Amino acid sequence: MSSKKEKKLKFNAAWDLDPAPEDSKHVSIKKQYDLFINGEFVKPNSKKYFATYNPATDEKISEVADADEKDVDKAVKAARAAFGKWSKLSGKERGKYIYRIARLMQERAREFAVIETMDGGKPIRESRDIDVPLAANHFFYYAGWADKLEYAFPNRNPKPLGVAGQIIPWNFPLLMAAWKIAPALAAGNTVVLKPAETTPLTALKLAELIRDSGLPKGVVNIITGAGKTGAAIVNHPDIDKIAFTGSTNVGKWIQKSIAGTDKKCTLELGGKAANIIFEDAPLDQAVEGIINGIFFNQGHVCCAGSRLFVQESVADIVIRKLKDRMETLRVGDPMDKNTDIGAINSKQQLLKIQEYIEIGKNEGGEIYQPSCSLPKKGNFCKPTIFLNVSQSHRIVQEEIFGPVLAIQTFRTIEEVIEKANNIPYGLSAGVWTDKGSKIFNLTSKLKAGVVWANTYNKFDPTSPFGGYKESGFGREGGLHGLGAYLTI
Ligand code: NAI
Ligand code: MG
Repeated sequence: MSSKKEKKLKFNAAWDLDPAPEDSKHVSIKKQYDLFINGEFVKPNSKKYFATYNPATDEKISEVADADEKDVDKAVKAARAAFGKWSKLSGKERGKYIYRIARLMQERAREFAVIETMDGGKPIRESRDIDVPLAANHFFYYAGWADKLEYAFPNRNPKPLGVAGQIIPWNFPLLMAAWKIAPALAAGNTVVLKPAETTPLTALKLAELIRDSGLPKGVVNIITGAGKTGAAIVNHPDIDKIAFTGSTNVGKWIQKSIAGTDKKCTLELGGKAANIIFEDAPLDQAVEGIINGIFFNQGHVCCAGSRLFVQESVADIVIRKLKDRMETLRVGDPMDKNTDIGAINSKQQLLKIQEYIEIGKNEGGEIYQPSCSLPKKGNFCKPTIFLNVSQSHRIVQEEIFGPVLAIQTFRTIEEVIEKANNIPYGLSAGVWTDKGSKIFNLTSKLKAGVVWANTYNKFDPTSPFGGYKESGFGREGGLHGLGAYLTI
């Protein structure tokens, strides 16, 4: 894009955008990606790159830069330099830029969806219909708040925090980037974001989009690398806030690392949600909810309904229906729009899931898997359920992060509340019943940040999301998510 055109874009209103650029019509992936710092792609200090693979074929897709401490420092300096102007821009102007990012994302939606599926293994139907539209919606939603901070937090003098260091996982790469970047920008912060090492490509596409959008240089910096790079962001002295989504272990390490500093922090960590089916629930709908709860995105979902509780009186019929429904699931090529369960994100994650399946068998659980066959190449796992498990089993207590469901039965409400809460995590839960009173009773007693009633895994930019206990703290989404990027 010529600099003249870039200038024009910068001062146009959001609705005045040029038509979709050519590259929205096909998918372009470069052989190698550099670091996006201060509005341009720059070589990493170490000159080192690492490969990212398609987990459905084990083929290498591209190489991305491995950022070290010097690169992190460069990115933080760029974000700091940009903070002055960006935070002083009127909310209305900031909003225009964020709207523009949202619109460009919609225009390039197909490309984002294809790359998301290639790099991470999730079914194209999910990337196309859920991840990408939701990511764009997050930008739209927070763009709307940018000029209303005073109304959102009346008489509380909301001010941005400064430079946010954001570290995201591999299960919803683009969506997590949107969850982190959109509220940070709306609130007037600048950003250094690091995607996960197995799924960096949609974040780098987003970097290209942001460059094309004319967002002032340095407001968003996107750098790639593994845990070491993430740690360098956490430990950088000029970072004002850490926003992290990932494993509970790394979350704990981050908390220790920033202890004694005045860095703000939000952590979205693991989960082991109870999905609770009462005898008066619409059973066919509930079975769909069980399937969606645990097999959506191969079960790589922190809020997955990975523990099922079925009331004893309907257990036989629910389990029969569940097994029948599992027979119809299509496991395989994530690029096929009819695929229900795609590839496991990495070899490492597949090994972890397989290990848990062995643990489940050894603990005495009764395993059931449908008769489907798996592709010869790539990382795939059959949808799996375990019956006859008990509260103390490891497959009931620990996060597996795969398509593996542990099923228990219960008789009374008291019993199921007790069991549902008897876990180190507290991110989400599901309740299926015909009675509103039961729903209200459970939502107040379940120790979970999100409780879905007669549905599961529904996300919306307006509603806050986050956990209790070892699932982390702080909320993302909605007004709460905006507040997490402000001093008020
Ligand atoms: P992870 O927590 O290591 O990775 C998440 C992100 O943190 C990645 O971007 C990674 O590069 C970064 N990271 C790793 N070490 C870091 C450090 N010391 N400082 C700063 N950033 C660091 O998760 P991993 O190893 O990929 O997955 C292991 C398990 O964690 C999964 O099986 C699952 O149970 C859980 N997990 C939970 C997620 C969630 O959304 N709640 C997301 C990803 C993993
Ligand atoms: Mg990959």
